[in-house]
Amino acid sequence: MDAITLKQQAAEYAAQFIEPGMVVGLGAGSTAILAVRHIGYLLKTGALRNILGIPCSTQTEAEARALGIPLTTLEEHPIIDVTIDGADEVDPQLELIKGGGGALTREKIVAQATRREIIVVDESKLVPPLGTTWAVPVEVIPFGYGSQQVYLESLGARVKLRPGSSGLPYRTDQGNFILDCNFGPIADPAALGERLKRRTGIVEHGLFIGLATDMISASAGGIQHRTRTPSA
Ligand code: 5RP
Repeated sequence: MDAITLKQQAAEYAAQFIEPGMVVGLGAGSTAILAVRHIGYLLKTGALRNILGIPCSTQTEAEARALGIPLTTLEEHPIIDVTIDGADEVDPQLELIKGGGGALTREKIVAQATRREIIVVDESKLVPPLGTTWAVPVEVIPFGYGSQQVYLESLGARVKLRPGSSGLPYRTDQGNFILDCNFGPIADPAALGERLKRRTGIVEHGLFIGLATDMISASAGGIQHRTRTPSA
């Protein structure tokens, strides 16, 4: 079974947790967009009604508008009932690396405002420790980004400025740069996240710690739905 089919299965499974009257976070990336399209389909057919979406990126917003999904903002609705979003890596504790699509800051703002954060992936995203296959995206303001690069290297990362189109650096929806930081397998993602947040000029990083409540992964063997075990 190809990855797109698996992503579609995970996205559709997650949509069953959306109920009428809910405010719904609409994630970014190819898997989350499949969920957005499925939500649009459910609304169109009348299988779902009366929801409001909050998109995590300008691209998702455009897609949701084209599908006729009613939208709102965090100013009008500061608490989101359910968000469906993708991830680049998921570890056994449901900690994540996100930001492959560059939307990590808005995704994290939406995730921290969300009661139920459902992550949808195909099985290729499941890793033992974070950092096994993916670099940690770090969003930095363009001013002084070279000094952030040196700082990130001092923490042990191999750092690459994410390229955009026409040979220019990639720009996030906020107009910032992304430094993709390959730390290799990360022993303590929470501690690394704290060190990254302390640095002025770093806007946000792609380590999502304690935010996912549910993870739905699809493989040829079927759907796996895991929920976060409450900490003692
Ligand atoms: C965007 C993200 C995406 O959710 C993540 O990159 C996964 O994308 P895809 O579903 O296309 O594999 O974090 O910033």
